[in-house]
Amino acid sequence: EKGGYEHYMRKEIHEQPHAVRQALSGRIDEFAGTVDLDLSLSDEYCKSIDEIQIIACGTSYYAGLYAAELLEQYADIRISVHIASEYEFRANRDPWRTLVIAVTQSGETADTLRALRKADGAGARTLAVTNTVGSTMAREADDTVYIRSGPEIGVAATKTFASQVITLALLTVYLGRQRNVLSSSEASTILNEVSEVPGAIQQVLDAESVVHETAKEFADSDAYFFIGRRFGYPVALEGALKLKEISYEHAEGFASGELKHGPLALVTENTPVLAILTEGTSADETLHNVKEVESRGAPAIGVSSETDPNPVFDTVFEVPKVGLMEPVVANVYLQLFAYHVASQKDRSIDKPRNLAKSVTVE
Ligand code: F6R
Repeated sequence: EKGGYEHYMRKEIHEQPHAVRQALSGRIDEFAGTVDLDLSLSDEYCKSIDEIQIIACGTSYYAGLYAAELLEQYADIRISVHIASEYEFRANRDPWRTLVIAVTQSGETADTLRALRKADGAGARTLAVTNTVGSTMAREADDTVYIRSGPEIGVAATKTFASQVITLALLTVYLGRQRNVLSSSEASTILNEVSEVPGAIQQVLDAESVVHETAKEFADSDAYFFIGRRFGYPVALEGALKLKEISYEHAEGFASGELKHGPLALVTENTPVLAILTEGTSADETLHNVKEVESRGAPAIGVSSETDPNPVFDTVFEVPKVGLMEPVVANVYLQLFAYHVASQKDRSIDKPRNLAKSVTVE
């Protein structure tokens, strides 16, 4: 049932082109620049939304951070992203004009469910973005959009992150169009990029041997740091989470600009730094930060769509060009990196210690 793969995680990483195609299937018209998600939100309601709050945990929270960048840019909506377990401490000033989006693979995460119920109780309209048909949050939210990844068995979320980001990109286009802030040609461009993601991910998967070699080279490091700006920041956080949960090694993701405000003290010759340098990540600025770590002797790995990658890198993982979707494609390299480091260390990749697939306790 693992289809020839040693672990579900690697199988699921490799299922991403298909998962993303499923998320898109029948939902987009690239030429007209329209999206149909089968939502019951009226035009009038979409125009009246004053704020979107995204609530989620873990990897789903990072997908939410990615979506926030998209929504801000293309749907012109005030947006805040909340770690679900912190949501109850936040004020909800104008719930009637707030759309609350729960992003959850399982649809059962207790922290997210509690936040969703709080939002609902306050009078906000709610939307669940989930993989699980008939799950508690799919049933309780006012609307549901399925990400259609298919079952994910590995405890570490992989293909569902890609599917969440892609589905939230479709939601962004939908809202941008409904609110008359996104032109049909801009929408077509985004939908075009989105539909190129499966092929771009396939190119990354075809380059897996490069990641395998790099993981072997660095598997004995003291710690691993991931840096990125803007769309690259949630991907840096996600890359670090994936590595720490399955390899048990210390890994941290930072906004590139924050390195010099403290974390730089941790950087040594034995702490590789993986930097996201694609469209939507202010790559030139991150490059300055890469030079800062290199001058402290740290090995630097670039995850880059630059055609002329800077020679400062020990290794470059090449990302195909797909506009603002490049960071989610770059993330596939980080998934493979985490997988191969954990595999070098012979970890229990599909069932890491202390973790459960669906976290139903608060
Ligand atoms: C990390 C991971 C977790 C989940 C989190 C939320 O690989 O899987 O961080 O993302 O527990 O789960 P869902 O999305 O089911 O609400």
